[in-house]
Amino acid sequence: METRRNNSAIETVIKESRVFSPPATFVEKANINDPAKYQTIWEDSQKNPVHFWESQAELIDWSKKWTQAFQWNEPFPKWFLEGKLNVAQNCLDRHLEKKKNKIAYIWEGEDGVVKKLTFQELYEEVCQLSNALESKLGLKAGDSASIYMPLIPEAIIAMLACARIGVAHSIVFAGFSSHSLRDRIQDADCKIVFTSDVGYRRGQVLELNKTVREAVSDCKTVKNVLVFKRNRHTDLQSNELDWREFVNDQPKTHKAQPFDSEHPLFYLYTSGTTGKPKGIVHSSGGYLVGVATTAKWIFDLKETDIFWCTADIGWITGHSYVVYGLLANGITSVIYEGAPMHPHAGRIWEIIDKHNVTTLYTAPTAIRAFMRAGDQHVEKYSLKSLRLLGSVGEPINPEAWMWYYQMIGKAKCPIVDTWWQTETGSILISPIPGITPLKPGSATKPFPGIVADIVNEEGKSLGPNEGGYLVIRHPWPSMLRTIHKNPERYKESYWSKFKGLYFTGDGAHKDENGYFWIKGRVDDVINVSGHRLGTMEIESALVSHPRVAEAAVVGRPDELKGQGIVAFVTPRDSGETLDVKSLAQELKNHVANEIGSLARPDEIKFTKTLPKTRSGKIMRRLLKDLAAGKEISGDTTTLENPSLVELIEN
Ligand code: WT7
Repeated sequence: METRRNNSAIETVIKESRVFSPPATFVEKANINDPAKYQTIWEDSQKNPVHFWESQAELIDWSKKWTQAFQWNEPFPKWFLEGKLNVAQNCLDRHLEKKKNKIAYIWEGEDGVVKKLTFQELYEEVCQLSNALESKLGLKAGDSASIYMPLIPEAIIAMLACARIGVAHSIVFAGFSSHSLRDRIQDADCKIVFTSDVGYRRGQVLELNKTVREAVSDCKTVKNVLVFKRNRHTDLQSNELDWREFVNDQPKTHKAQPFDSEHPLFYLYTSGTTGKPKGIVHSSGGYLVGVATTAKWIFDLKETDIFWCTADIGWITGHSYVVYGLLANGITSVIYEGAPMHPHAGRIWEIIDKHNVTTLYTAPTAIRAFMRAGDQHVEKYSLKSLRLLGSVGEPINPEAWMWYYQMIGKAKCPIVDTWWQTETGSILISPIPGITPLKPGSATKPFPGIVADIVNEEGKSLGPNEGGYLVIRHPWPSMLRTIHKNPERYKESYWSKFKGLYFTGDGAHKDENGYFWIKGRVDDVINVSGHRLGTMEIESALVSHPRVAEAAVVGRPDELKGQGIVAFVTPRDSGETLDVKSLAQELKNHVANEIGSLARPDEIKFTKTLPKTRSGKIMRRLLKDLAAGKEISGDTTTLENPSLVELIEN
């Protein structure tokens, strides 16, 4: 009954499109809480973004100060030219004087085991690993390293050790298959892979090093694999080094060398509109300024915060708001290796109470799953330590927003709905929690220094409530620098649709108050549970199966996951003997093996032909309608085969 009452209250609120002022108790203590002053900063920043970012560059330590803030060799930017810094030094060394005993990470395993690391301890571990990588393997600036690890402190230690010695890391989410890992290692020419023997999730053991072995057997550049053994009895092969033995004779200090502001800090592969993922290249100086500034302003960071961003470090959210943005500000974070609902639906709330988490940053998919599990799992916990909530990765539906606000935040925590991308490096559109009135479902307004707009097909600025493309008009410090080994694709993907504007790939509109409402991707990228997948990537995986002639993949709305994956497949043998059920199962497994289980299609529909235009292009719009169970709409007169899609069922 309780739930029903809540639901009707929620519906009323949504119908009235209510605006929520930042809760007074929050505003009182917020770092930024003077609306007039903030408005001036924001307006100035829109006129002169470079000036805003110059002032924020003070947040970090420069070993040599930059001479020029910004240079634009369109579309290739440089930020903080001639500046030198060491990102790991900024995250660790500079905090030691005042907070060496402060906790940097509270790690919790799925079984409830807890490990805490102070800034001093983290520093020492990073130094030992940095020393060993330099002295034993000769790794140096310009090299690259792959990280394929579960969410344990050693994964972060590996990132920071790479950053410290100037080696670009390329983290591959540990749910990706050996094929995906191999492709990414090869593209980035990695010399070493960091892994651990196993990971634990949903009570299951994940054999990570087994996947790494399959991947590196095909990678010429990989000389060594460094394995963090969680199980004493794990055996290693000749090219594999035992992490503990590798570091344990090493000094616990290391002198960090400064690198150029534009030195690549990391590569991160993400899906695009073609089959091959793109290696997004991020810088050192500009990236760190972007993540440090946005973390500080958007999460209203306080010395006493216990911050929990639930993302894995395999995604950009983990890079920026589990690691670099938070450490640069010297803040304590929680990291949790397991699944948020394992072994019970209240696990996430239990962890919040246990560690007194003040700030929770998670994805709408997770919020919807908790909501569906039922309020009784939340009511067992007080959640009284929470003061701020965040959402990221996909549009949050107003129902989920309201539930998050009332049930989790008890109407006293603002929600920051943060829009950004792997490419943007840091959050670009978000409320400032002590300032911005909130509208459920809107990421509200651009961050200072970010000039965002909505344009039509011709690149012309649109007025209130007119739907169009989300673009960014001025470069910003944490933006991607290029696509690794493929500057042409960088130009083509982001700078060719509209001259001089960064194309995000998202559709959106602004309302009469200048609030941005993001609808989702307008390209062939789909967003499943906040994870980005290219439809072409899944299609390539499907057609690599001997029984598939052709495949087209589309997203369909999914109440829980945002989008689900539907594949239309024309089989090679479409005769009477086709067992639709078993082939569907086989193909789903095939995709999971090829890419990773996050790409497993929800449904496979077999068809005799795919709907194509006379010029041979697959009509995706039509397939999208079919997948969503809608009537076929719009113009189909250009269709080659007017009988549309003949489904094979048995
Ligand atoms: C795409 C980027 C960096 C965030 C993690 C995903 C969608 C992201 C929001 C939001 C609506 C959002 C967009 C974007 N997205 N945040 N708050 N509201 N949509 O990073 O994998 O690079 O995906 O996620 O469609 O383009 P990503």
